[in-house]
Amino acid sequence: MTHRVPLIIGNWKMHKTVAEAVHYVTVIIPHLIPLTGCEIGVAPAFTALAAVSAAAAGTPLHVFAQDVAAEGPTGAFTGEVAAEMLRDVGCQGVIIGHSERRRYYGETDGVVAAKVRRALEARLLPAVCVGETLSEREANAALDVVERQLRGIADALTDAAKQPIVLAYEPVWAIGTGRAATPELAQAMHRHIRAVWEARFGASAAATLRILYGGSVTADNIAGFIAQPDVDGALVGGASLSPDGFAQLIRRSCALTSGDGEGVLRSVE
Ligand code: 13P
Repeated sequence: MTHRVPLIIGNWKMHKTVAEAVHYVTVIIPHLIPLTGCEIGVAPAFTALAAVSAAAAGTPLHVFAQDVAAEGPTGAFTGEVAAEMLRDVGCQGVIIGHSERRRYYGETDGVVAAKVRRALEARLLPAVCVGETLSEREANAALDVVERQLRGIADALTDAAKQPIVLAYEPVWAIGTGRAATPELAQAMHRHIRAVWEARFGASAAATLRILYGGSVTADNIAGFIAQPDVDGALVGGASLSPDGFAQLIRRSCALTSGDGEGVLRSVE
């Protein structure tokens, strides 16, 4: 069986000045150096990306942006940041289609697909979010909603076997609420996501696909998620904001994994 090296990404959302972000990196790096068996990323705001990338260069810490323009590589798109610009400041990946973008900024599946295409063209690893709202879950529509979102993402790929991509299952009702999914609920959805991927792209693409869980992940509950066979890491919001807290969460994830196997970030380095 393929051993999927877990990937843990801290999504800082709209937090941290440049000075705070760089300080964070200097505090967390000594914690990360001895760890093997997982890949780690942080996703600062656009303003801190260049400084964080410079501070993290040559260390195990990878840098993700939180969003990317659907257009580009250049053009008259005031306020937007192209995938090539993110690569230019040292990013290796980008979060795409986060529920906060879908919900507050009207991002449709079509926009998400366009952003995935742009990220891949610029050799950025897309970490693409899917997940249902509480009312969708209560209406028994969670699987259908996630399947529809996955179809949009899959349509953006031209060669899934060669194009690296990470998916994140983030049930909207679990984000920032302190009400995480149970590991069993996450596992059931992750298994479904992998089955959808297998039906579309074949067994080998599905077996190497990283599927992260996100939504109220903490140092206290991470182990339960990582222990699930189809949970390959986490997308962490609030619990990633303190470097010591995030380091503890990471240690608890890495301690559970063997240390061998191929990472997904290698393909975009
Ligand atoms: P919390 O970990 O704060 O619930 O946020 C999850 C999230 O949205 C990560 O992208």
